[in-house]
This record gives sequence, C-alpha cells and structure tokens, in this order.
Amino acid sequence: MIQVAVLGYGTVGSGVVEVIETNKSAINKRAGAELHIKYILDLRDFPGDPYEDKVVHDFDIILNDPEVSVICETMGGIHPAYDFSKKALLAGKSVCTSNKELVASHGPELIQTARENHCNYLFEASVGGGIPIIRPLNYSLTAEKIDSITGILNGTTNYILTKMDKEGAGFEEVLREAQEKGYAERNPEADVEGYDACRKIAILSSLMCGKNVKYEEIYTEGITKITAADFKYAKQMNKSIKLLAMSRDTDRGFFAMVAPFMISREHPLYSVNGVFNAVYVHGNMLGDSMYYGRGAGKLPTASAVVSDVVDCARHLGKTVMCFWENEDVQVKGIEEDNGKFFVRVKADRREQAMAAFGSLAEINVGIAEEFAFMTQVITEKEFNAKIDEIGGCINRIRILSA
Ligand code: HSE
Repeated sequence: MIQVAVLGYGTVGSGVVEVIETNKSAINKRAGAELHIKYILDLRDFPGDPYEDKVVHDFDIILNDPEVSVICETMGGIHPAYDFSKKALLAGKSVCTSNKELVASHGPELIQTARENHCNYLFEASVGGGIPIIRPLNYSLTAEKIDSITGILNGTTNYILTKMDKEGAGFEEVLREAQEKGYAERNPEADVEGYDACRKIAILSSLMCGKNVKYEEIYTEGITKITAADFKYAKQMNKSIKLLAMSRDTDRGFFAMVAPFMISREHPLYSVNGVFNAVYVHGNMLGDSMYYGRGAGKLPTASAVVSDVVDCARHLGKTVMCFWENEDVQVKGIEEDNGKFFVRVKADRREQAMAAFGSLAEINVGIAEEFAFMTQVITEKEFNAKIDEIGGCINRIRILSA
C-alpha cells in the first residue's frame, strides 16, 4: 500500500482525492499497489466532508510518519510549499506538485534534492493542467533537438479571449465567470498579466534546454489592453488574438516571451479555444507536434497530479530521469527579437506612420478616428523607436509568423 498525503484541500487538492477515489481500481492496477489517502493538510476543518477525519493542521505529523511515501503538494505559492516540499524530499518522500510558481523558481534544486534522496519531485500538473507535456518532453522527445515551443498555457486568459472573440463579451464579466468555474487564480493578476503563463513557459523551456531558464528573464505582457476593436481588426485579417508563451533556440541565441499575438486561421493554435491549452513543439527531426487538452480546472489538473503519484509508486526508491540542471540559460533581450506588428494609431498620424514604417499594409474596419496597419518584419528595438518617432500608438499586437 502507498500512503499518500495531500497538502492543501482546495480546488486541485480535493480533485486529487476525487480522482484517486473515482478511478481507484484502474489506478491501483497501474500503480502496482493500492493508493491510500492518509492525511490531508489544510488550515481549515471540513465538517461533513467524507474525508474530514484525515484532515490535519500540522505538517510535522506527515513528515514524521514513516508510512507516508508520496506527498501531493497542491497548495500553490512559494511559502510554505517550498519548505514542506524540501523537508519531504530530504526525508525521502516523493512530492507531486501542481505548483508552477514553485517549480519555476526552485525546480532544479528540488529535483536535485529528490535525486540525492532516492525519491522524486514530479510536476506534470504544473504546465497545461491535464495535458501530458512534461512526460513527452522528458521521455518521448529525447531523440530530438527541440528548437521552439509555442503554447497557449493559461486557461483563464484563453477563456476570456475566446469569449471576447466569439461573443463580443466584456473582459470583467468573463473574468468573473472564469473565477467562478475555478480556472482563474485567486489573484487574477497572475493570469491576466501573463505571470502564470510566464512560469509555465520557463518550466517547458528549462526542459527543452536541460538547463535553467529563469522566469524573471522572460519578457511578459498580459491581455488587459486587448479590446473589442482589436478583435474587429483581427477578424478583418482572418486572425484571432491569443496569449502565447514561446521560446526559441536560434543561432542568434535563446529567446522567450509571453504576449498577446495575432494568429492566423491556418495555424493549429488558432482552434484552441476556451479553457483548453495547447503546446506546439518543433523538433529538428520530428518537425511539428502539438499537445492539446484542458489546461485548467479541478479534475484535469488533479488527474495529472495523480499520474505522477502512479509514477512514484512504480519507482519507489528510484529517481525518474529529468534533465534540468542548475545552470542558467542566457536569455536574449527582447529588443533583438523580430517580427511583424499590427498597429493602431490616431487618424492624424497616418502620414507620419507611412513615412516612419515605409512599406506597410493598411487594415480598414471603418473606425474613422484611427489608422491601422501591419508592418514588415522589424526588430522590437526598431519598432519601438519608430512608434516613439510618431508620438505613440493606440495599441500594437505582435503577429505570429506562419
Ligand atoms: N489559472 C491557471 C489557468 C490554472 O487559468 O491556466 C492552471 O494552471
């Protein structure tokens, strides 16, 4: 029997208990042992809950119980999740987590601690909710040199942008709905400002490089400036707007960014709507592959945590390989990156914009007060200089190259 403790009985933690209970017989068969929830750590009590007798308030009870071999950390945040995870690993207990913040900031250290103590630090649920993406990167694509990853990695923002696109809905109203459905973070800033997607692309990029990509070095822009007018232009251009998290290993260096992008109908990520996430990976031998599924929500995320528990049960006393060394990748500054931009300026800047950008393609949706256009490929640095030269813009959105 594998005795399991769950840290945090919130959305994902209660989902972990539900998944283990609902799929008990299949999970136990696959794990090769019976999984049993022994403790649930939470500050609160849960009177009337079928698992109320498992609830404890003191982490040391779990840490000092030699029977517990696997811990599901579904608390989120750095503290006390870091201290609990570190202590558990030092005690030889495996940790399975959905905590992208902690994995992005302390991943290599905790992986190393697990290795030294013959246990595992697994984090399938930290990126893409229920989509298996960590295991494919760790196990399946090992013959590849992965040169780019482009992902829709935040369910909340994809849900909001999809509703804005398809229903013309307002930002605030859709955000509230996403929170009610349990997709959004308690502090929605992490979602809408792109911080959550930034942590997730840092994790994927680190696995892509086998070295540490620091999330602090990834340029991050959220969706709060995207308006109904932007979607009007996008439609006219046969495009939609998605919050993309991307990294590219090029001969000019390693680039990473989170930002809203205009994306054309032909791109496979165009059809990724609502709370769904997708990760589009390019390998030098395989070419393109895409991983798609529910990127947020209680049961999909919990399912990924439990898949890690099964992996731990299958590898008791052994460490599952994960290449993520504690050596930092040098992330290039965004100014050197290049691409095309969609730009809206006030109508009276038309001549200046045409002079500054030279060859540009006008986009007209009948908004008389504006002049909107698409640039040629240009570096971020040149683009910003030209926008300064013409006295600023109403908005600008990067365009994903096909
Ligand atoms: N708030 C996150 C999202 C939850 O919306 O994707 C899953 O990490």
